[in-house]
Amino acid sequence: MRFEVLKKAENSRARLGLLQTPHGTIETPVFMPVGTQATVKTMTPEELEQIGAKIILGNTYHLYLRPGHKVVEEAGGLHKFMNWNRSILTDSGGYQVFSLGELREIREEGVTFRSHIDGSLHFIGPETSIEIQNALGADIIMSFDECIPYPATYDYVKNSVQRTSRWAERCKKAHVNPKQTLFGIVQGGLYKDLREESAKDLVSLDFEGYSIGGLSVGEPKENMYEVLDYTVPLLPEEKPRYLMGVGSPDAIFEGVLRGIDMFDCVLPTRIARNGTVFTRKGKLVVRNAVYARDFSPLDHDCDCYVCRNYTRAYIRHLINAKEVLGIRLTTIHNLYFLLNLMKDIRRAIEGGYLSEFKNEFFESFGYKQE
Ligand code: GUN
Ligand code: ZN
Repeated sequence: MRFEVLKKAENSRARLGLLQTPHGTIETPVFMPVGTQATVKTMTPEELEQIGAKIILGNTYHLYLRPGHKVVEEAGGLHKFMNWNRSILTDSGGYQVFSLGELREIREEGVTFRSHIDGSLHFIGPETSIEIQNALGADIIMSFDECIPYPATYDYVKNSVQRTSRWAERCKKAHVNPKQTLFGIVQGGLYKDLREESAKDLVSLDFEGYSIGGLSVGEPKENMYEVLDYTVPLLPEEKPRYLMGVGSPDAIFEGVLRGIDMFDCVLPTRIARNGTVFTRKGKLVVRNAVYARDFSPLDHDCDCYVCRNYTRAYIRHLINAKEVLGIRLTTIHNLYFLLNLMKDIRRAIEGGYLSEFKNEFFESFGYKQE
């Protein structure tokens, strides 16, 4: 992997970059659609390409449990298995084990947990996570960490951060595939000195990129932005920075302004399946009765396939009738909306008007939305 910063904004930490992986070049800041189980729900890879996705995310935890990383390896790796030829990033399992796995037990060695599928007992530690991610064959892989719940006591976070640093070192040792790029994950909750300790430990291990984890776990957004304010400057300028699990439009702007290059989030695809779409004028619940005879597109300002061809009334009908096409159409539109927003953000950094663009966007979209 190669990462190049092309331009830095003058009045913020925002930057424009190019990330080169064995499966193509990615312009940053980038949004990565989530494809947890070797699919971005409802979308074919061709459709993802058409809306401009350059990199998607897969999950170690899910693919290890089902169909099994050995099956994916036998298929020729995740790219071949799912017929996606652009870049893939896999998360390490260090989040799903904690959020989905039942009866998990954390030890120095790793985490023992029960499968959310059939209750069977499993173990993932730093070495197993890297081994699984190596079998999956993503371009970018994550070190195994503990995503600390919010709120957590100082002592808990301190112990956890130090263990995550030891795990990161073991991941670095276990990482043997030169085609894959390993990122370290900074933790530390909302404690400034622990974020500093975590960042210092990881930077001394010299990863090729750095993720910021443990955010968007229930804390107020202002606290997340504060963590970014003091954490990002501790990371090397010349390496990519990835804010994990964050992807609402407001958090994307705030993250980019604070120097984040990569984002992922289930938000656009999850709300789409629930009948909610992004528009330039804010979120719209297309399921609602007011759209029964609305023969206009989801978003008047959008030129995606869906907005060029279908009406709110039709999509509302499909979703209410539980026709699968309905949630396919809302998913295509929402991902297009966010990928297009990233393109506009990159253009604004290039032109030096990101703050103005942010104000203009939220004047129309509304800032305080969840
Ligand atoms: N996804 C969202 N947050 C996190 C995190 O803290 N760690 C990992 N591994 N994945 C995440
Ligand atoms: Zn659209």
